[in-house]
Amino acid sequence: MSSTNIERQARTVAQALCDAQQAVALTGAGISVESGIPAFRGAQGLWDKYDPMEFASIESFLDNPARVWGMLRELDELVRQARPNPAHQALARLESLGRLQMVVTQNIDGLHQEAGSRRVVEFHGSGRRLRCLGCGRLVSRAELMFDELPPRCGCGGLIKPDVVFFGEPIPERAAMTAMAMAHSCQVMLVVGTSAVVAPASHLPLLAKSAGAVVVEINPEPTALTGRISDHALHVGASEALTLIAQAVEERLGGAGEGR
Ligand code: APR
Repeated sequence: MSSTNIERQARTVAQALCDAQQAVALTGAGISVESGIPAFRGAQGLWDKYDPMEFASIESFLDNPARVWGMLRELDELVRQARPNPAHQALARLESLGRLQMVVTQNIDGLHQEAGSRRVVEFHGSGRRLRCLGCGRLVSRAELMFDELPPRCGCGGLIKPDVVFFGEPIPERAAMTAMAMAHSCQVMLVVGTSAVVAPASHLPLLAKSAGAVVVEINPEPTALTGRISDHALHVGASEALTLIAQAVEERLGGAGEGR
């Protein structure tokens, strides 16, 4: 059976991963679309329904927390029902094969960890953690009641998910770790991100300028296509990453034979 173009590209990427000492995946909302969580931009994107400046900036959250929590509650419901899909699982598999050293994710859904990825940098924080802006206490997800919006802590303080809103800095440790990896990796997989939100969008540029092979996985072309990406697999994340993980397994499985 003749192989498709995507299969050929997957084998080329697998070879690059096998040759690399350090490889990283930068993921965005698109990797969780097949888990039922809509992306922000593009067809049926969340930002078509909600204006990000009104619903995702720290000013708007502090101005009108009840309104922003209305949107967060909707997202929270989807995230709680979501399970990792084959794309998350393939990245976890690549890590366990020693061919991927880190996932840097812009997602707040925790699905990489649930799939088994161990080294995950949450660039935009986590929706699974919450904090009281009054007393600073970490609030567990189980404590969160939505009977009254916005949810409040026992001390009366406003509860905020530990996610990065527009206008807030990236957690310092996450930013430093991700940038160091972008500088030192030989391969960066850029999966399911429109690559338009800085500073995460700078990571592929950093990697490229440090000599890494940049592989884009996205059904749509992005700002990286034809400019920064060395390879662009224009299919869904599950299809592409499953093929890549299989091709890596075949290479590693065959590596000892005949030697
Ligand atoms: N597989 C891979 N990619 C997909 C899939 C899929 N099945 N479905 C959609 N995509 C792609 C879209 O084509 C789009 O380019 O995923 C990308 C999602 O882009 P965004 O919605 O912009 O998500 P992201 O890049 O993660 O956004 C960055 O913006 O609003 C903020 O804080 C939010 O972290 C988020 C940041």
